[in-house]
Amino acid sequence: MISSLLWLGILVVVKAVGYDNPALTGGSLLTNVLHTIPLGEREPINIIISNESSPRVLKESMNDGGMYNFLMSVNYGPECLGLHMGDVQTADLGDGQGNQTQKAILRYMYFGDPYLGTCLETIFGGTHIRVFKQETSGAWFLSASMEQDMYYNHNIAINGYDIGRDEVSGNATGTSIDSSYLSNGRSISGVMRYGGWSYNTTVEYVSGLFSLNRTKINHYPEVQLVGQNVTDGFTAVWTVKVLED
Ligand SMILES: *[C@@H]1O[C@H](CO)[C@@H](O)[C@H](O)[C@H]1NC(C)=O
Ligand SMILES: *[C@@H]1O[C@H](CO)[C@@H](O)[C@H](O)[C@H]1NC(C)=O
Ligand SMILES: *[C@@H]1O[C@H](CO)[C@@H](O)[C@H](O)[C@H]1NC(C)=O
Ligand SMILES: *[C@@H]1O[C@H](CO)[C@@H](O)[C@H](O)[C@H]1NC(C)=O
Ligand SMILES: *[C@@H]1O[C@H](CO)[C@@H](O)[C@H](O)[C@H]1NC(C)=O
Ligand SMILES: *[C@@H]1O[C@H](CO)[C@@H](O)[C@H](O)[C@H]1NC(C)=O
Repeated sequence: MISSLLWLGILVVVKAVGYDNPALTGGSLLTNVLHTIPLGEREPINIIISNESSPRVLKESMNDGGMYNFLMSVNYGPECLGLHMGDVQTADLGDGQGNQTQKAILRYMYFGDPYLGTCLETIFGGTHIRVFKQETSGAWFLSASMEQDMYYNHNIAINGYDIGRDEVSGNATGTSIDSSYLSNGRSISGVMRYGGWSYNTTVEYVSGLFSLNRTKINHYPEVQLVGQNVTDGFTAVWTVKVLED
């Protein structure tokens, strides 16, 4: 079923429980990046936080165990003292809002420190996530990538989209996920804590949600591994349950 549809060149929804597939309603799991050369390059939205997560987690809040507190438990925090590196991106999640601007960009907190730690990410490079929300389903969509340091002008590292997705998914489950051993339906769970809240995240890998046409992917000459696609095309779907809610 899946392979025959792909064979016909149609993008398929393998499983869309907990979110709406943007591609079915004119949207896309690729962001729009300003000022790329050539114009029109995009970055994969490679993590979805399903609306089957606890309602508390789906609220856009730092308080009461909300989304930004959860992402702190995953070790991603606000940018270094408001020092913003890189352009704002937009995405059309097919939810009738057209292009929405990213709600936040969060950076890996070295030493778990939200202030000094994200500054180190800004200087030395590492993984960051851009955050979007789909209004129809209430699911959240994240674009994760690993970038190089300032010296390389923050370009994306080799295989940096898949590595970013798997590093963040590993950080959400307290595991280490090797990008070269993923399969459809693979599921990984783990508990992380922050600010008095405990989150049990289950990550499931699905494929077929976006086009693998490499020429549409930002920085593709730097990112692509020899003999490989610019990304393996997997999306990590997270279901986050607050424990003892
Ligand atoms: C969103 O932005 C992209 C890139 O600028 C553009 O091609 C597209 O038409 C826009 N979509 C909508 C719904 O305005
Ligand atoms: C999740 O989103 C789907 C698709 O929009 C919707 O059918 C479903 O009712 C939503 N579930 C919850 C718990 O919000
Ligand atoms: C996040 O994931 C990376 C890659 O697996 C790992 O090196 C790092 O130690 C993790 N950080 C935390 C806080 O778990
Ligand atoms: C976390 O969720 C998974 C998947 O539902 C479940 O198997 C596991 O037991 C849960 N862990 C805890 C500590 O609740
Ligand atoms: C890939 O995208 C480029 C640029 O948008 C386009 O010219 C090309 O036809 C696409 N290739 C396929 C196989 O869809
Ligand atoms: C690259 O993507 C194409 C199209 O999805 C697929 O047929 C091919 O097997 C992929 N190549 C590798 C090396 O994974």
